[in-house]
Parts: sequence; structure tokens; C-alpha cells
Amino acid sequence: MTKRKYVRVEIVKESIAKIHIHRAEAKNALNEQLVGELEQVIRQLEKEAHIVCVIIVGNKNTFIAGADIKEMASASVTDAYQYASKMKALHNLITFSKKPYVAAISGYCLGGGLELALACDMRIADETSKLGLPEITLGIIPGAGGIHRLAEIVGISFATQMVMTGEVLDATTAKEWKIVNSISSNVEKSALSIAKSIQSKSSYAITAVKKLLNERHGKQSELILENEIHNFASLFAYPDAFEGMSAFIEKRQPIFQKGG
Ligand code: CAA
Repeated sequence: MTKRKYVRVEIVKESIAKIHIHRAEAKNALNEQLVGELEQVIRQLEKEAHIVCVIIVGNKNTFIAGADIKEMASASVTDAYQYASKMKALHNLITFSKKPYVAAISGYCLGGGLELALACDMRIADETSKLGLPEITLGIIPGAGGIHRLAEIVGISFATQMVMTGEVLDATTAKEWKIVNSISSNVEKSALSIAKSIQSKSSYAITAVKKLLNERHGKQSELILENEIHNFASLFAYPDAFEGMSAFIEKRQPIFQKGG
């Protein structure tokens, strides 16, 4: 097996797994390799029956700043479709896992980072957390289920506001909108405390609860998620996507076309 570069797994108290993401130079942006490594460790942990809860954690002040815009900037419609499909598959591994997942969020949790956190069962944030789906500022939209999952949690009005404006929320607002379960000065410790509580319960019962709560992700939900991927990918046919992502890379404001 090739050595992983961005993802490390730590086992705590014998049956709790912490997945650490570390790509500090790019604010933990999800490039192809990082997504591949995450998929590999999640598949491996699923096979390990003694692991009863998984925590996903980034660096201090950065959970994940989204998909890797530099990698995506020259993507075709087909590339974008494949990227979002891979992300959806990764999220489904979490959704349909037997084990509960907790996202321990410090700092930036944006775009694909928030989509990943929303695929987890619980989210803990700290005071530095900044949560949002700023894809609209790049001329694109969230494509891996973020719109759908966010609307389920915050309702259509707040989801529309967040996705259409790209507004980034502080931890207090994210808590008010029920995006995060709680705010803690030590997110890893708080996530661990939830995991320890789960550890003391029957795994069969925990798995049954997770399955019941995720039953809504049935065929209807799959169609909605697939539709989100199609809509995300189709935007890569327009010049605005290229303009938005180029502007981010060139550290300038984008100039979008009007009409459409
Ligand atoms: N992709 C690629 N590189 C990124 C990145 C990303 N999402 N986020 C940050 N970086 C890079 C920056 O380009 C910069 O690299 P250089 O040093 O080479 O210039 C480095 O990380 C440090 O970032 P900043 O200098 O920008 O740090 P900052 O503290 O000034 O700002 C930030 C931090 C607010 C998170 C800002 O970096 C930012 O806005 N990032 C992009 C957020 C975003 O738009 N996310 C959505 C991506 S699209 C998506 O996620 C779609 C999907 O999944 C389907």
C-alpha cells in the first residue's frame, strides 16, 4: 500500500478512530489525492468491527477550505461530473456506514469541506469556525449533495440565502441554524466525549439508530443528489466558471457575464 500524504488515522481508546486531514499549505483543499486517501481510510475503517465511532478533524483554524480550485479551474464538464461523483461516493460511504461520524471543525469549513461535514452525523465547531458554501463566488454551485443536505438541516429559506450569496457563517450563527451541534473551545475533546459515550453503548443499537435516521437517503434522495451533480457539472460549460476560478487563483474579483 502506498504511504498516505494528507490523511492519518489515530486510534483512541481502542475503538474510536480519528481521521486527521493535513494539507496546511492549501488550507486542506480536497485535491484528487486527498479525496482518494479519505476514501481508502473510510473503506478500511468500515471493515474494522472494533471501531465504533469515527471523528474527522483538520488543522487548528482549517477544517477544509473546499475542493481544490486550482485542480478544478481547467476542468471540463465531464471532469467536473467525475469529481462531484467521487465526492458523492465518499459522502455515501459515511452516510451508509454502520459507524457514527463526528466532524470536529476548527476554522474554515467551506464548500466541499462543509459538504463533507454535512455528510457526517454530528458537527462540533469552535469560535474560529467559518462555515459556508461560497461556490457561487466562483461561478459554480456546490455539487456533491451540499445544497440538498444543507436544506434538510436549515430549511429552504436559509439554504437559499447561504448558497445564493455565498455567505460564510460564524460558529454562533451556524449553531443557531442547527448546522453544528455545539460550540466548544476544544473540538477534538468534545467530539471524543461524544465518541466515548457512543463507545459505551451497544454497537447494534447505535447502528440501528444511524440506519433509521439515514433512511431518508433512499431512492428519491439519490435522484436529487444525482441532479445536483449534473447541474454542478453543466456550469463548467459556461465562461463564468472559468472566470470565477481564475479570479480566485489570480487573487482578484471575478467579472461575471449578465444574462443566461
Ligand atoms: N483550493 C485550492 N487552493 C486553496 C483553496 C482551495 N479551495 N483554499 C485556499 N487555497 C490556497 C490559496 O490559493 C493559497 O495558496 P497560495 O499560497 O499558493 O496563494 C493558500 O491556500 C492559502 O490560502 P489564502 O492565502 O487564500 O489564505 P487566507 O487566509 O487569505 O484565506 C480562505 C483563506 C478564506 C479559506 C481562502 O483561501 C478561500 O476563500 N479559499 C477558497 C474557499 C472556497 O471558495 N471554497 C469552495 C471551493 S469549490 C468547492 O468546494 C466545490 C465542490 O466541492 C464541489
